[in-house]
Amino acid sequence: MQMRFFDDAESLACAAAQIVSTVLRENPQAKLGLPTGSTPLGLYAELARLHAEENLSFAEATAFNLDEYVGLSATSPQSYQYFMEENLFKHIDLPLESRYIPSGTAEDPVAEAARYEALLAEHGPLDLLILGIGTNGHIGFNEPGSSWDSICRVVDLAEETISSNARFFTGEGEAVPSKAITMGITNIMSAKKIILMAMGKSKAECIKAALSYEPTEAIPASVLQKHENLVVLLDDDAADLLGWMRF
Ligand code: GLP
Repeated sequence: MQMRFFDDAESLACAAAQIVSTVLRENPQAKLGLPTGSTPLGLYAELARLHAEENLSFAEATAFNLDEYVGLSATSPQSYQYFMEENLFKHIDLPLESRYIPSGTAEDPVAEAARYEALLAEHGPLDLLILGIGTNGHIGFNEPGSSWDSICRVVDLAEETISSNARFFTGEGEAVPSKAITMGITNIMSAKKIILMAMGKSKAECIKAALSYEPTEAIPASVLQKHENLVVLLDDDAADLLGWMRF
């Protein structure tokens, strides 16, 4: 595991974007695994800038999102598909047919998860997967207790996730969905390279739990310690409780 620490979110985002850019310049056909949430916003803005100003191209790449809420359509501003279009896809040259994300409105979400699993298997391992982390240690929507053998599936969101993500559902009558489709731990761990990003004091506890103790299914992100090509990018606040690991 390689750990890097940053004074601020901007420099962290730029470092993450440089890793994506290096992977893409070495292999323009790279398969990328992408997260949502507030954590990757700076990274996506920097990738858009690199595309506009420094010729970074996604034209031959393929992107697979980690997860999607069950019940939200692509036109719902809280859906991850909408998030990706707004924050990244409409600013870069990734072809429409190379953007994959589970459908939140499939009639049969279980079948949709199986379809997504088959799609990932068909394309082979991701070259680079970028992850944020939930305050309870979740990655994608793999909540505490998720099996390390898990694959793409429909999951029930933890209470902590529902309350933490409620900040995005502020309109009248809007509630956080209680289910999602997510890549499993197996899909995540089969990526050739993983970047884990975390910023802010609210992530200090889960980062400590994920990185400084023995891996356990109770803390999903702790499985990443077993990955042979993991880069952890943290700002000072998120790294605050790591103690000796910082030095
Ligand atoms: C959601 C996503 C995760 C993400 C997490 C953290 O629950 N499913 O992939 O890492 O939120 O969100 P944020 O970056 O907003 O803290």
